[in-house]
Amino acid sequence: MLPMPQFDEQNRAPVTDPLDVVILAAGKGRRMHSALPKVLHRLGGRCLAQHVIDAARALGARHICVVYGHGGEEVRESLVAPDLGFALQEPQLGTGHAVLQALPHIGCDGRVLVLYGDVPLTRLTTLRRLVAGDPRAVHIVTAILPDPTGYGRIVRDADGRVQQIVEENDATPAERALNEVNTGIMAVPAARLAGWLGGLKNENAQCEYYLPDVVAHAIRDSVPVITVQPEAVWETLGVNSKADLAILERIYQRQRADDLLTRGVTLADPARIDVRGALECGSDVTIDVNCVFEGKVRLGQGVVIGANCVLRDITVGDGSIIAPFSHLEEATIGEACRIGPFARMRPGTRIAGHVHIGNFVEVKNSTIHEGSKANHLAYVGDTEVGRNVNVGAGTIVCNYDGANKHKTVIEDNVFIGSDTQLVAPVRIGEGATIGAGTTVTRDVPPRVLAISRVKQVAIEGWKRPRKKPKSES
Ligand code: UD1
Ligand code: MG
Repeated sequence: MLPMPQFDEQNRAPVTDPLDVVILAAGKGRRMHSALPKVLHRLGGRCLAQHVIDAARALGARHICVVYGHGGEEVRESLVAPDLGFALQEPQLGTGHAVLQALPHIGCDGRVLVLYGDVPLTRLTTLRRLVAGDPRAVHIVTAILPDPTGYGRIVRDADGRVQQIVEENDATPAERALNEVNTGIMAVPAARLAGWLGGLKNENAQCEYYLPDVVAHAIRDSVPVITVQPEAVWETLGVNSKADLAILERIYQRQRADDLLTRGVTLADPARIDVRGALECGSDVTIDVNCVFEGKVRLGQGVVIGANCVLRDITVGDGSIIAPFSHLEEATIGEACRIGPFARMRPGTRIAGHVHIGNFVEVKNSTIHEGSKANHLAYVGDTEVGRNVNVGAGTIVCNYDGANKHKTVIEDNVFIGSDTQLVAPVRIGEGATIGAGTTVTRDVPPRVLAISRVKQVAIEGWKRPRKKPKSES
C-alpha cells in the first residue's frame, strides 16, 4: 500500500514541516569594483538577491530573512517587501555568525534553508530535493568541480560518509586535492541550529565563524548528513566579479531561450535574445535576433518580432508584425498591426487592430483606433486618433506649448496631408482633409478641406547666385 500523506483536517492541505529561509547577503563583493552592493547587481532584469528571494517564495517558505551588512540600508530598501525579514550583520564575522543574526527572525521548529544572495541560479527542482528529505537530517548541496580552488572541500570517511567540510585555507594538501565542494546551500533542522551555531569557534585561518562547521557538530550529535548534487553545476555558481556576472547572465538567458523553444516559439538564434522579465507567447510566434524583452511582455498568436527590437511592458495582439529596430514601451497593440521598422512607442499608447505605424513614427500617450495609418516620420502625442485616419509623412502634433501638454482629437476618416502641424488643443472633424503643409491652429469642422499655405508664385527670369571666380576673391 502507498503511504498516505497526512492532511490538516481544516484546510485539507498536506502537513509539511515549516520551512524558513535565511539568505546571506552581507558580504562586501570587493571584486565587483562597484559602488553598488554586490547582491543588487542585475541578472535577467532582477537583482541577484531578488532571484534568491523569489526561489524562497516559490518553495513556500514561512519566514524569509535576508542578512545584510555591507551596503546596509541600500540593500534593505531595494529589497523591502512585507513578507521579508532583515537582520543586520555588523561586523561580518563569517557565514555562521551571519546565520546567527537571522535566528530572531525565524522559527525554531521545522527546518532552515540557507541560501546565498550571490548564487542566483539554483533551480527549484534542486532546492525541492533538498527540503523534501528527512527533516531531522542536515542536507547540503555539493558539486564535483574539475577545479575546486577556493571552495570548502567535502571530506568523507572510508564508507563515503561526510565527516566534515574543510575550507581551502585550512585544508591539508590531501584535502585540497578533493574535488567535491560545498556549494554553501544547506538545510538544517531548526531545533538544532541555535545550539550548533552557539558552539562555533573562529580558530581557523580566517578567524571567522564558519557555517559549514555545523556539519561536524551534526556528526558529533549523530544527526545524518545527506548530500544532494544539482543537475547542472551552474546552478551553484556564485557571482564575485563582473566576469562571473556576465557568464551567469548568458547561462540564464540560454535557459529562458530554451524555455521559449520548448513552448514552440521560433527563435532565429537562441544565443541572441535577452529576456529581462516575463515573456508570454501564443502559438507560432517568431522572434528574430538581438531582441530585448523587459517587464511583462505578451505576444499573441503568430506575432513576428523583427531583429533588434526592444519591448518593455507591451501587449501585442494576434498576427501583428513588429518590424526591425522598433522600441516600444508601456503600450498595447491590437491584432494584425504592422509596426516599424524604426517605430517608437512611449508609455500610454493604445493601438487598435489593423493599424500601421511606420518608420520614424513616435507615438506617446495616444489612442489610435482601427485601421488608421501613420506610415512615415511623424509625432503623435496626447492624441486620440479615430478609425481609418491617414496621418501623412512629416505630421507633427504640437502637444506642448512650453509649459503644458494639450490634447488633440482626430475623428474618423480624416486625411492629414504631409508636413502638417496640429497645434494642440485642436479637433479635426470626421472626414475632414488637411492639405499638405498646413499649420492647424483652430478646430476643423467635419468633411471640409482645411489648408493654410503661402500662395505659390513663379518668378520668371530668376537667376541663381553664382560663386565668384577665384581670381576676384
Ligand atoms: C563559502 C563556504 C565554502 C563554500 C563557498 C561556496 C564558509 C565558511 N565557506 O566560502 O565552504 O565552498 O562558500 O561559494 O561558509 N556572508 C555574510 N556574512 C559574512 C560572510 C559571508 O553574509 O560574515 C555571505 C556573503 O555575502 C556570501 C556568502 O555569505 O553571500 C558566502 O560568503 P563568502 O565570503 O563568499 O564565502 P566563501 O569564502 O566563498
Ligand atoms: Mg564566495
